[in-house]
Amino acid sequence: MGIKLSIEHLSKSFGGKPVLEDISFAVNDGEFLSILGASGCGKTTLLRILIGIEGFDGGTIYKDGKNISSAHPSDRGMGIVFQNYALFPNMTVLQNVMYALKFDPARREHARDIALDIIEKVGLGEQLNKKPHKLSGGQQQRVAIARTLALSPDIVLFDEPMSALDAANRLTLRREIKDIQSKFGITMIYVTHDQEEAFSMSERIMVMEGGKILQLDTPKEVYHHPANDFVHNFVTVHLEEKIRSIQESTGV
Ligand SMILES: Nc1ncnc2c1ncn2[C@@H]1O[C@H](COP(=O)(O)OP(=O)(O)O)[C@@H](O)[C@H]1O
Ligand SMILES: [Mg+2]
Repeated sequence: MGIKLSIEHLSKSFGGKPVLEDISFAVNDGEFLSILGASGCGKTTLLRILIGIEGFDGGTIYKDGKNISSAHPSDRGMGIVFQNYALFPNMTVLQNVMYALKFDPARREHARDIALDIIEKVGLGEQLNKKPHKLSGGQQQRVAIARTLALSPDIVLFDEPMSALDAANRLTLRREIKDIQSKFGITMIYVTHDQEEAFSMSERIMVMEGGKILQLDTPKEVYHHPANDFVHNFVTVHLEEKIRSIQESTGV
């Protein structure tokens, strides 16, 4: 398993205020990595820099060993799924997924076939001709994922994609995203402030606080061997309390 993406000594400040400080990490090919941290710790800024829609002050980004630090977003082979899926309300599922392909000369001709194939793979084959408002929040988010996958990225970034969903839809979508990952074998970087989400989905978790990486390890290691008091409280204590409250409410 090779290294897909490598970030070295990345730094970024806004108006003199450091937002990312000497960030270095690598993501393996085909890995599901979560970036876990409280609001304001720099997660969205980091994703925006990785896909190339935000500049940065120092550091280097390598993809497949190639320096892509100044590559145009459309040349990076990365897709992103945001919290607000922003589907076109007047278009069907099929039309929404085909839309992005129409602007891609290499894929335009086969747009319909590509879209049909991906919609089937994300489990929305039955919903092809429905408009977004006829779908659940989780289904709408899967349309957004299909739209991103249609452009054949080899890395997909997620920025808190569950935030707008209710609890039941969140649980379902967790499973579906994992399912989509195993079908497509794509490297995924998943940003969340939700400990359970990170722990239930990831091969490794990168815990951030105040623009710095505190720990990057498997869920098991982060839970049992938190790097410092912050990680201990933010992760271990939080999850233990969660388990205790489930035990108390169910009597298990
Ligand atoms: N365009 C911007 N201009 C100034 N400050 C910003 C801008 N974008 C983000 N910030 C600041 O950078 C910090 C990190 O923000 P963000 O990356 O959105 O964090 P997160 O996604 O973890 O909540 C916050 O303090 C935020 O206020
Ligand atoms: Mg954010």
